[in-house]
Amino acid sequence: MSELIQNLQETVAYIRSKVTAEPTIGIILGSGLGNLANEILADIEIPYKEIPHFPVSTVLGHKGRLIFGTLNGKKVLVMAGRFHYYEGYTAQQVAYPVRVMRLLGINTLLLSNAAGGVQDKMNVGDLMVITDHISLFTINPLLGPNEDSLGTRFPDMSEPYSKSLIQKVQAIAAANNIVLKQGVYLGVTGPTFETRAEYKLIYTLGGDAVGMSTVQETIVAKHCGMEVFAISVITDIGIREEENTITHEEVLQAAKDAEPKLTLLFSELVAGL
Ligand code: HPA
Repeated sequence: MSELIQNLQETVAYIRSKVTAEPTIGIILGSGLGNLANEILADIEIPYKEIPHFPVSTVLGHKGRLIFGTLNGKKVLVMAGRFHYYEGYTAQQVAYPVRVMRLLGINTLLLSNAAGGVQDKMNVGDLMVITDHISLFTINPLLGPNEDSLGTRFPDMSEPYSKSLIQKVQAIAAANNIVLKQGVYLGVTGPTFETRAEYKLIYTLGGDAVGMSTVQETIVAKHCGMEVFAISVITDIGIREEENTITHEEVLQAAKDAEPKLTLLFSELVAGL
């Protein structure tokens, strides 16, 4: 048995020793977007640091715990705080919890993140449904020997983000007067925010938003057969001519301001799944 499978089995066995619930919906909350966790009637919360083989999150704004509970009547498994490549984890470690979720029975994964807007049409505070991504500027988490028991060597990526989940969220947004943008998320490693020239490059390449997370989780989720929905909160605008410095504090604040809309979308979406 490979080390990966052995580790996964130990992680899952530990979590199973604490929890009997079998949710099928998993949620990963991005920077500044952890408050959705407060809407959840938690059955049990497990700090990452107690879970064997789980990396521990260090980035500001993350509380780092796995929550099993109920959101709007549906059983869910929430990762409050995620792992980023820029923290020093490998791409495989970043995506490890997604595999754990799959082995725990999750088949639908909802992701949120804070991202920089690189289109004129974007404003701070916008929500952007991710319709597709560009992952070529990050490290692919599937590099290395393929674990055939998890998924195929060459996974199809023609629909990384489920069209049917996107349509459901668009209907919920329309019913609640929430304006949704949509676009392509381009993943980078960070931790630097982009230079003006880089934002321009990303724009030229077809990115509508840029961020330091999500693509690796999506790749691993698709590899092991999950349906994925992802949404960005636009926390800063990279492509503009005037003075343009970006701070982590401003990103967290913009994420926090947009959070009620995001919470509504996720909570209505899970109710209908
Ligand atoms: N670039 C990269 N990652 C980000 C940004 C950005 O402008 N904003 C929030 N996360």
